[in-house]
Amino acid sequence: MGIKGIKIGTVEIKGKAILAPMAGVGDRAFRETCARFGAACTVSEMVSSKALEFDDKKTLELMELGEEARPAAIQIFGSEPDVMALAARKALEFSPDFIDINMGCPAPKITGPGAGSALMKTPQLCGEIVAAVVAAVPVPVTVKIRAGWDEKSVNAVEVASICEQAGAAAVAVHARTRSQMYEPPADWSIIKAVKEAVKIPVIGNGDVTGAQSAARMLEQTGCDAVMVGRAALGNPWIFQQINAYLDERRIVPPPSLSERMQIMVQHVELMCRYKGEYRAMKEARKHVGWYLKGLRGASEFRRCAGFLESLADLDALVKDVIAAQEETPLSEK
Ligand SMILES: Cc1cc2nc3c(=O)[nH]c(=O)nc-3n(C[C@H](O)[C@H](O)[C@H](O)COP(=O)(O)O)c2cc1C
Repeated sequence: MGIKGIKIGTVEIKGKAILAPMAGVGDRAFRETCARFGAACTVSEMVSSKALEFDDKKTLELMELGEEARPAAIQIFGSEPDVMALAARKALEFSPDFIDINMGCPAPKITGPGAGSALMKTPQLCGEIVAAVVAAVPVPVTVKIRAGWDEKSVNAVEVASICEQAGAAAVAVHARTRSQMYEPPADWSIIKAVKEAVKIPVIGNGDVTGAQSAARMLEQTGCDAVMVGRAALGNPWIFQQINAYLDERRIVPPPSLSERMQIMVQHVELMCRYKGEYRAMKEARKHVGWYLKGLRGASEFRRCAGFLESLADLDALVKDVIAAQEETPLSEK
């Protein structure tokens, strides 16, 4: 591949399309599926620094990183520098290539105690957290921020600069404020402003929906890499499409129906391997729904996906889906 990658501290990222951290969906199976299609780097679901103090089993599971999805970061959240430093040290047991600090989560249960995007309101504390984590671990430390807390306090440039001074090796910028949550179109000009203000690599995030929009974000903002979240759901081949387009302006069509079903089944099989069939099938239901999006009869099949209990159920569903598409032409996804 001819795409020039980026370097995060000492870690070489061989590409420009990174999988965004996504709690509840970006588990090991999904990250490995995206890496198989060329995601240049993956980030774990966010992990509570407080929960790490108690060796909570589910929390530890979030940090398991396979060799197939590297380089990989473990993302931690919290608001106390010393607790964050301890959490980062604990995370080292899982050999992350770097540690990412969450400064963007908008959920009230995270922002209430001052973590996630609430940190955007206290830039000095952001710097203290980064400095404490950098001092605690030998791997590079990155931050993922938002544009700001709300429209009246867009301060991504200030927060990114403070984090850089405190030792952050890269910054990912989700180009929305906390009060915008996930809805209005991201304002990429804030990514450009951050890129112009810092020397560390800047990863742009927000509304990359395909190969062309990835190229547009890189061009318009000058960012060093893009981070893809929701557009990868049920669509992990987006990384292959982005890479081919950035590399040689080649448009890779989406996989055929049978390939798509095969990718979905392999993804769910991985979930079963890592979580056991009982739990995995419950969590797989939403992924299956995303893979079926846009297919003929999708709404009914997605309803059926809500009852999946086993891989055998999934096999039966796939047969029905394929049969239904053969009856009528497949609509474009
Ligand atoms: C289901 C879901 C879970 C998310 N969980 C996290 C998370 O754990 N940590 C984080 O920094 N961002 C999280 N995000 C935000 C994404 O990483 C990303 O910043 C956001 O979705 C915007 O990118 P997109 O437009 O490509 O989706 C999550 C987003 C979604 C949709």
